[in-house]
Amino acid sequence: MNALSSAPEALSGPTVYHPRAGGQGHNLESDRFNLWYGATQALFDVTFAVERGLVTALIGPSGCGKSTLLRAINRMNDLIDGLKVSGEIRVDSRNIYSSDTDVIALRKRMGMVFQKPNPFPMSIVENVIYPLRVDGVRDRRLLAETAERALTDAALWDEVKDRLQDNALGLSGGQQQRLCIARAIAGEPDVLLMDEPCSALDPIATARIEELIDELREQYTIVLVTHNMQQAARVSDNTAFMYLGRLIEYGETEAIFTAPRDTRTQGYITGRFG
Ligand SMILES: Nc1ncnc2c1ncn2[C@@H]1O[C@H](COP(=O)(O)OP(=O)(O)OP(=O)(O)O)[C@@H](O)[C@H]1O
Ligand SMILES: [Mg+2]
Repeated sequence: MNALSSAPEALSGPTVYHPRAGGQGHNLESDRFNLWYGATQALFDVTFAVERGLVTALIGPSGCGKSTLLRAINRMNDLIDGLKVSGEIRVDSRNIYSSDTDVIALRKRMGMVFQKPNPFPMSIVENVIYPLRVDGVRDRRLLAETAERALTDAALWDEVKDRLQDNALGLSGGQQQRLCIARAIAGEPDVLLMDEPCSALDPIATARIEELIDELREQYTIVLVTHNMQQAARVSDNTAFMYLGRLIEYGETEAIFTAPRDTRTQGYITGRFG
């Protein structure tokens, strides 16, 4: 236990409340994290801790910094010119911005799913085992087993098991997104970061992804960015509301949606702005 896990309110200021516990302990913490794109500050003093085994939704109006924060967690922003950060993001108590961080190893621990499905132009099975290929795994049995397990976990196996060698670009949008989830979990990450994974999908495909998130909950630390309030309410345990680069309110999803304490949260979830 570090200071943040035992007393989140000590660091986080007045607008962050106790999120739901009952997961498996914090393994992801943002501690007074700031981020600048050149001269423009995009994140301000973001402090919160996310529990393993629970789904945490990140909500807020367009441009408030949700994707920026998500990308900061696996250091995907690193390549952007003029990027500057201060504060810490800790995974299992280690600051991922410390100079001795192995960024490649860090990214392997993070599965990332984007708003738009982005399968690689290769076969379905090669997409899934891509993380293992990158690692140089050649054991055909291991690769086949991993593909089947990840596709099963992503609720896609039955639909594709007879056409694993087909090009992934021939799948429907919803299938492609589940394929991307399969690829994200094939490398057995600890943390699953999902940036509006359902925004390009129809209600049926969306429902399948939501079921899937519900099933994956136990095994991962899941952070889900969504613009869909119903989705956040349906699938998340805790919700963090961001506004203009700041974390405004963080707590149990039910409390955030039924009794938000900050007028800005209230305004957003009731559709007054955003
Ligand atoms: N690569 C970049 N370079 C400069 N500014 C950026 C970059 N990416 C994002 N920003 C700026 O940072 C702020 C936060 O953007 P971000 O994409 O994180 O918002 P968001 O909450 O994900 O929005 P949306 O809901 O529309 O996806 C915005 O003002 C945006 O213009
Ligand atoms: Mg975004």
